[in-house]
Amino acid sequence: MKNNTTHIEILKNERELYSKAADFIIQTFEKAIREKGYLTIALSGGSTPKKLYQELVKHHGAKKIWRHSFFFWSDERPVKLEHPDSNAGMAMEHLLRPLNIAAEQIYTVPTDRIPIQRVADAYEDDILDFFRQHKSDPRFDLILLGIGEDGHTASLFPNTLASNENKKLIVANWVEKLNTWRITFTFPLINKADRVLFLATGEKKAKILNKIFTTKEQQYPAQKVEPVDGESYWFIDADAAGLLTKGV
Ligand code: 6PG
Repeated sequence: MKNNTTHIEILKNERELYSKAADFIIQTFEKAIREKGYLTIALSGGSTPKKLYQELVKHHGAKKIWRHSFFFWSDERPVKLEHPDSNAGMAMEHLLRPLNIAAEQIYTVPTDRIPIQRVADAYEDDILDFFRQHKSDPRFDLILLGIGEDGHTASLFPNTLASNENKKLIVANWVEKLNTWRITFTFPLINKADRVLFLATGEKKAKILNKIFTTKEQQYPAQKVEPVDGESYWFIDADAAGLLTKGV
């Protein structure tokens, strides 16, 4: 993990972490919209983003930036939008509907529209078409990521094929330990981003974070997130940072 582009911020508690993350996201949005007139963000899955979404709606919902923002997902489960496991479903409920985001600004993974084997290629086409229309490489302004206790991020799990994909931008990844398919961004796509923001809260993440920040070789998928021409940010609360040695 290159130190020169990795910024680590340890926040006192969850409340402070979500407040700081929301401010960071708004600042990133405003920068992108100043420069290009629009913003692309890939939302992460899992449970961590829910409180971030609520923070964004509560404290930044009235801002004009939302109408210039386009939403994608860095991974998705093979379920319909209405399913409780849907990453897009959670974002629709806690962020996109409360902000009245228009349907044409939302690019969900088509897991409810076509057979799983074709979803990844279809989503990659959607993403490439979007950026082509904007005369740009597929470079997200911000990719939001979580971290699993095994060091996975997006749905790039240890010892899975997708973690070694170096050409495709989106793949369907069979995750044996979960006995399920996942659709996920690959590292080639993640590492094209301008900014990547990892959020980690709670003492359950302490062990993996300590391993990630103290193991030099890339043993864990999250260590392969190294934006080629961008920056990684980690916002970690004190519980999740509990085992980090000083000076990380
Ligand atoms: C998913 C995710 C996954 C998640 C981590 C952390 O679809 O599950 O994208 O990578 O971010 O597993 O999950 P929590 O936020 O629930 O701890």
